[in-house]
Amino acid sequence: MEKKSRILVVDDNDSVRQLLQKMLEKLGYVVETASDGFEALSKLVFDIDLILLDILMPGMDGFAVVKEIRTQAEYKDIPIIMVTGLSSREDRIRAVEVGANDFISKPIDMTEIKVRTTSLLKMKNAQDDLKRHHKELERIVQRRTLALRESMQNVVTAQRMLQNAHMETIHRLVVAAEFKDTGTASHIKRMSHFSAMLATLINLSPNEVEMILHASPLHDIGKIGTPEEILLKPGKLNKPEWNLMQQHPVMGSQILTGSSSPLLQTGEIIAISHHEKWNGTGYPFGFQKEDIPLNGRICAIADVFDALTSIRPYKKAYSNDRALKIMEKGAGYHFDPQLFTLFTDNMKQVEDIQQRYAAAA
Ligand SMILES: [Fe+2]
Ligand SMILES: [Fe+2]
Repeated sequence: MEKKSRILVVDDNDSVRQLLQKMLEKLGYVVETASDGFEALSKLVFDIDLILLDILMPGMDGFAVVKEIRTQAEYKDIPIIMVTGLSSREDRIRAVEVGANDFISKPIDMTEIKVRTTSLLKMKNAQDDLKRHHKELERIVQRRTLALRESMQNVVTAQRMLQNAHMETIHRLVVAAEFKDTGTASHIKRMSHFSAMLATLINLSPNEVEMILHASPLHDIGKIGTPEEILLKPGKLNKPEWNLMQQHPVMGSQILTGSSSPLLQTGEIIAISHHEKWNGTGYPFGFQKEDIPLNGRICAIADVFDALTSIRPYKKAYSNDRALKIMEKGAGYHFDPQLFTLFTDNMKQVEDIQQRYAAAA
């Protein structure tokens, strides 16, 4: 059922008020009345659709009432018809200036009332519909924004979980290979941090540093395929054993090859190149100098230094000084000389890493 429009009649003259009320009720409207401007303003809360407003009233005249209504955001769109005995041009101009919509002159004619109120109420209803529509749209947008935010959050969470699972899988794979080799996972922790330290010192981007930190533990993943009696042999390896041992970079790269993961791709490069030597006497390819991938050159220093300073089946742990002395002879033929200098210049950081990831940990 359509809601009846509510009209507020404001006039200080009782008989005019009653006459207007009667006429409007006959036209099917619900009528509120007010005998002055103050009462009129207080009755706006009753969901008023249209105001019939006398101009000449004691206290606050019709112009002042219109002005006041037009300043209130909630009521500023209510149509106002000024009712007046005066028909002077100045009054009409002033009424328009303060924001009235139309005029009716006294004496009041029923047909005129009907025509004026009908057209203004139509406008008011259309405005109300539009406002409702706007509010509804706002609600829909708000709901959708919220839903979008939630689903984005879900995607981010899923991506994080996937990334964590990815990292964990790699880590466990590395630990499996490392246990077989050294019986401890602390070697890969230290060598990966030494590698990240060097990467930072040569100003690689944070992204690249993080990549080498997580990919360098994969350097010896190929040892999964190396027989344990060779890995754990206390003495020197004979020629066939050494040949088998030298297969681990190739086996590592075969395990990692073809991945779409940048981390595994970096791991593959490190696995295949960490036993290359600066002067081209390394394996498996015998690459020289800058032909050896940078990450491989970095990991070679980190790996050898940690191997020398750790216990291995065929040797005891050397001190840092002794390890560096041994390695120094290799700077320029085994290791990238600039990287090696950077490493030796930053022994404080190296020692910090050693303490943080000591073998017993
Ligand atoms: Fe290796
Ligand atoms: Fe290693």
